[in-house]
Amino acid sequence: MSAVLVIGAGGMLGRAWMQLLAARGLEARAADLPTLDLADDASVAAHVVPGLRAVINCAAYTDVDGAEADEATATAINGDAVARLVARCDAVGAPLVHYSTDYVFDGHASAPYATDRPCDPLNAYGRSKRVGEVALLASSGPHLLIRTSWLYAPWGKNFVVTIAQLARSRPELKVVDDQRGRPTSAEHLAWLSLELLERGQRGTFHGTDGGECTWFDFASAIAAAVAPECVVKPCSSAEFPRPAARPAYSVLDLSRTEAVLGPMPDWRDNLAAVLERL
Ligand SMILES: NC(=O)c1ccc[n+]([C@@H]2O[C@H](COP(=O)([O-])OP(=O)(O)OC[C@H]3O[C@@H](n4cnc5c(N)ncnc54)[C@H](OP(=O)(O)O)[C@@H]3O)[C@@H](O)[C@H]2O)c1
Repeated sequence: MSAVLVIGAGGMLGRAWMQLLAARGLEARAADLPTLDLADDASVAAHVVPGLRAVINCAAYTDVDGAEADEATATAINGDAVARLVARCDAVGAPLVHYSTDYVFDGHASAPYATDRPCDPLNAYGRSKRVGEVALLASSGPHLLIRTSWLYAPWGKNFVVTIAQLARSRPELKVVDDQRGRPTSAEHLAWLSLELLERGQRGTFHGTDGGECTWFDFASAIAAAVAPECVVKPCSSAEFPRPAARPAYSVLDLSRTEAVLGPMPDWRDNLAAVLERL
């Protein structure tokens, strides 16, 4: 059986993919910096070779605030390099699974963003990811473009790990309550991606946990589980100014994904499963 190539295998989502492929008994090849640099066509060509079962691109420039000061680098990795990766996958006939973000939308909606809703990124990272999306959408090769949001795992740098650590060490936390979205377990995202891929689905999908919440709701659930004595208080985004603008509303509509895979588990259930292993 041919191998699945996971690019960015050491990142948060990449690790979830590697574990999933091992659990399914599927042959996996891990690729990451420095041996595979998306910006280096020769290293991409050395890894993206004929005969692969699929290429999973979990690699990205993911520093949302850093992108404001260095949009050129973010676009080079998330946009231009992705365009060349798409072309290489097309050339070798490998289906490509690629990830994008809720930040490609404007953040002003009041109902979940459908997969075909027009994009209008509100920050540099979102613009860079949109350049990558456009490259996939222009490609005639088989691909899955999966937008996700608020990713977390028992490993890596993420909101759940950070809040759990802070709640255990501080009596009180303030967390913004004016940004609404959908948390996503990286393991759940890898699972739903593989299911879509193996069931022959192609095109644009949204992949998140079910339900929705604010960061304050999310932090409250984490603290209640790991350090109930910590008091979590709501605050506004204005109290925590950051270089990159954040969406007030970025709930991704899951109907296309749920039509294939059934209802997505509620974020509280996926969170509980991850917290047990922290
Ligand atoms: N995290 C979120 O909340 C979130 C939300 C929406 C969408 N997404 C998308 O989901 C995907 C996975 O995100 P993640 O949080 O798992 O990312 P992550 O943990 O930051 O991992 C990214 C991986 O990409 C690698 N990488 C960076 N630049 C590279 C390059 N030039 N060539 C090859 N590899 C490179 C990194 O290596 P180093 O560690 O060595 O730099 C790392 O292994 C990304 O497409 C991201 O845009 C994430």
